[in-house]
This record gives sequence, C-alpha cells and structure tokens, in this order.
Amino acid sequence: MTNTTGPVVTSDAPITASDPIPTPLAPPPDILRCAYMELVVTDLAASRNFYVDVLGLVVTEEDEDAVYLRSLEEFIHHNLVLRKGPAAAVAAFSYRVRSPEELDRAVEFYTELGCRVERRKEGFTKGVGDSVRVTDPLGFPYEFFYDVDHVERLAWRYDLHTPGALVRLDHFNQVTPDVPRAVKFMEDLGFRVTEDIQDDEGTTYAAWMRRKPTVHDTAMTGGDGPRMHHVAFATHEKHNIIAICDKLGALRLSDRIERGPGRHGVSNAFYLYLRDPDGHRVEIYTQDYYTGDPDNPVVTWDVHDNQRRDWWGNPVVPSWYTEASLVLDLDGNPQPVVARTDTSEMAVTIGADGFSYTRAGDDAEALPSWKQGEYKLGHQL
Ligand SMILES: [Fe+2]
Repeated sequence: MTNTTGPVVTSDAPITASDPIPTPLAPPPDILRCAYMELVVTDLAASRNFYVDVLGLVVTEEDEDAVYLRSLEEFIHHNLVLRKGPAAAVAAFSYRVRSPEELDRAVEFYTELGCRVERRKEGFTKGVGDSVRVTDPLGFPYEFFYDVDHVERLAWRYDLHTPGALVRLDHFNQVTPDVPRAVKFMEDLGFRVTEDIQDDEGTTYAAWMRRKPTVHDTAMTGGDGPRMHHVAFATHEKHNIIAICDKLGALRLSDRIERGPGRHGVSNAFYLYLRDPDGHRVEIYTQDYYTGDPDNPVVTWDVHDNQRRDWWGNPVVPSWYTEASLVLDLDGNPQPVVARTDTSEMAVTIGADGFSYTRAGDDAEALPSWKQGEYKLGHQL
C-alpha cells in the first residue's frame, strides 16, 4: 500500500469477511436511497430549535410528540423525525425502495435471515404508508417504504433559503464492530463499496457503501456497536458550510461544532460535524462525486495516511472516534453494544502508539514537530 500520491484504486472491493452472515436465497429489496432518520430526543423544543431555527430544516408537520422535517429540495414528507423519548437514541434508518412490491421482498429477505420483521399497511410514521421495519443481522433498526406523501419541493423558493441552506439528506453512518462482516451483509442487500480504509495487516477500519450514485447512502465505521455515528445533510456549496459556522459563532453556539470545517480525503467532500442538544452527531456535507457506473473504481486509503479523513491533514478529535448514539430495537429498547476486537483507528493513528504520515515512506519522526504534537496524545502542553 506504499503510494506517495494518494489512495489505491482497484476494480472491486478488496474486503473479505472471516465470519460472514449467510447470503439469503431470497433476493434483496431494490433500494433507491437513504430517505430519513428517526431520532429519539429528550427535549423536543431544544432539538426543534437546533434543527429548525439554527440549521434551517423545514417543518412539514408537528405535534406534541414529534417534529417531521425536510430539506429544501426534498419532495417526500420528511428526511428527519424528532420524536420525544426518555433517552437519546436512533429508532430507524429508513430507506425508500423502488416500488410497493419491494416491501414483500424485504419481508422475505429478512425473515430468511431470522430477523424480527414488522409490517404496517398504514406505516409506522406520519406521511409514510405501507412500510417494513426490521432489526437487521448487525443489530440496526432498518425501515423500508415506497408509499409516502408528496410535499412542495422548495428548491426554487429562494425567499426561504438561508446562507447555510440544507438541500438534501445525503447519508447515514453506522458504527459496527466487524466492518468486513457488515460490508458483506450490505453487499447482499445490494449496496456497493465506493471507498474504504485499511492497513497493511489486513484490518478494515471503515467502508463507504452506496445505492444512489454518490459516494454513499451509509458507511460502516469500525467501533463498539451497533451505534449511529452520524446523519448527513448536503448543502450546494462550501460557502454554505462556512455560513453555518459563522451563524453558530454569532449565536454563541460554537461548542456545537465538534470537527471541521474541512475537506475529506475519503469522498473528497467538504464537511462539518455538529452535535445536537442530545449529542446526536450531524454532518453537513457537500460536493462528493458521481459513482453510478457499474465499474466505478473502489478507492482504498491507508489508515496511516493523515490526509484520509482530512485532506489538509488536520487531526481528528478523539470524541469523533469514540462517541456515537445508541440504536433501538423494535420495542424501543436500546440495543446492547458489542466491543470492537480489531484494532481501533484512533489507537493506530493518534493514540499513544499511533502513527500517521503525510508522505508514504516517511518514518514516525518525519512529521514536523508541530504536527507530531497534534497526532500523539500527551504531546500537547
Ligand atoms: Fe459522513
């Protein structure tokens, strides 16, 4: 994996699971895209303030227990549900499928896997019709639907757009202990890897997987799980992300910013990570690339390349590696978290024994002193 110019590009995903989930005989549902996330929040008013008044998501509908929000270019009922509950968690990662018949396929696919599967003709959520909810083999609450209320697409309503306008839901990011196992299962579900992070010892730290023709609909991040790492909304331009930072500063809410803004190596997108009032992580994301061809090249990054997660070499804060949201089972109880046994990305890059390089082939002391202090915990004053 020695390469001085960047990541390794191959024709297919070089990830193999040692403990695979059996591939069902039933075909998977034809998934269009990630469509919405249902978040359980402990203070509905505080969360509404953050997502609506600060970030500018649009309220489609609301009641005493829930707020249904959408981005400005969306035409379906919502991209985010904030539901009041006793403890912060994620109730559903929801995907839209190509036709109503795909729900039958989802039922058969997950039933064959021995998963708990529930279907409601009237849907589980306002605005959504016939839908299927499952606890998948990785422990995540997944939902599939086709029927949904259409609402006004506000793309041309520039009178409503703010400088930090959020225009689309872009992706989810899931934390799971065994990334190769998760990748293999998601490939069986019809997803394809676009990028990943590995090391020379064969450990896989993360993988980005798509249905729609962008870098991802969801990513599998190695860590204690199942947990939700973040949900990401897209802006049109980089300056929209800068405007969000400026607004948070003006509101004396700069402590909502966890990491960034910056340019990712993986995905090439411009990014910003925020934490909502419950600590749920939200990414603001823009300008990744088209991946829709069947032979789209897979990009593999070396875990020690300090430009993989930030193209400018800025360090990743430890909380970004370690903290994530609990996910719920279909009864609303938190799923138990299983520890990762493979080495952690934080430990091999910024921990006490960590090592990162800017140029492949450099040794551990080749980084300038001011950079070593950032990557080696304990070097700071
Ligand atoms: Fe992301």
